[in-house]
Amino acid sequence: MRAQELAGKKGVRILAIESSCDETAASVVEDGRRVISHAMYSQIKIHEKYGGVVPEIASRKHIEKLPYVVEEALSAAGMTIADADALAVTYGPGLVGALLTGVSYAKAAAYAAKKPLIAVNHIEGHIAANYITYPELEPPFVCLVVSGGHTEIVVTEDYGKYRLLGTTRDDAAGEAFDKVARVLGLNYPGGPNLERLAKDGDKDKYALPKSFRGETHLDFSFSGIKTAVINLVHGMEQRGEEFSPADVAASFQKTVTEELIKNTMIAAEREGIKKIAIAGGVSANGALRTLAAKEAEKRGFDLFIPKFEYCTDNAAMIGAAAYYSLKNGAAPLDLNAEPSLEL
Ligand code: KG4
Ligand code: ZN
Repeated sequence: MRAQELAGKKGVRILAIESSCDETAASVVEDGRRVISHAMYSQIKIHEKYGGVVPEIASRKHIEKLPYVVEEALSAAGMTIADADALAVTYGPGLVGALLTGVSYAKAAAYAAKKPLIAVNHIEGHIAANYITYPELEPPFVCLVVSGGHTEIVVTEDYGKYRLLGTTRDDAAGEAFDKVARVLGLNYPGGPNLERLAKDGDKDKYALPKSFRGETHLDFSFSGIKTAVINLVHGMEQRGEEFSPADVAASFQKTVTEELIKNTMIAAEREGIKKIAIAGGVSANGALRTLAAKEAEKRGFDLFIPKFEYCTDNAAMIGAAAYYSLKNGAAPLDLNAEPSLEL
């Protein structure tokens, strides 16, 4: 069936593929809301020794693992590719080589199986992760997108329709977590490791700079706090001062999460929208989740954050987003990877 004919239908099963960074993932999702199966090969162990994702290695691993991960997702769903109504793939943003492996694989598989292929924006996928966790969630809602490459506040006005309210002027929130983690001697991936370290720290020990105080826009800046942490740590090291890295981690985490949640709450108040969602890898952060819940409750807002396993990169979110893109039709066979794709 053509993509447009599937739009809005019930019982539509999409086989989705995600390979934009260091996770090789495939999933079967029904009607954009129900995960039938989910398979993933994480490359974390491989990139760990280099302190970050090595794009060339990521691409080669995707090529090696994709067929197995797809097969695993299909067999766990009790399906063959012939039973899928459509295929979906992340075509951007992300690492160009990594994206290309998934795009090439999906194009070939869709062509051979005579299925429509839906091209999905990775960020749209992160937002759609909320549809899996909350089958009742419908637009409009305000969404804070916080990943390794993006930090944005958007209004999801309708499925596939977004309006940007604020963005970072420099580093993404996840990027700041990763850089500060490195300064504190933590391994890749920095975000979750920093959170673990921060658990035993005093979050009020260091007063770190906040960005754009007194401004009315909703943009972010995280390069200032990153530099402040680097200077703080290097200064203490040079003076031979004893300090607790856990206190630094906790203070950093507190400051960044406060910035993120403050602007998100202002955005929802200004827009008069009582539903707030959070999406992207940093939404896995416990301190962010707790603060968001507290501030949302204070204002009578409903809060939506994906289940932990759908916060970071996965293919289920791509399958969820794809369902709502069916109405736009299938991607052409000359679909290319778009590393800098915007929402
Ligand atoms: O969404 P994601 O998996 O990949 C991108 O699309 O970028 O996000 C990855 C980012 C990384 O910067 C990672 O350090 C951060 O999300 N992250 C976290 C946590 N888990 C992942 N940051 C803070 N706390 C966490 N628990
Ligand atoms: Zn992501």
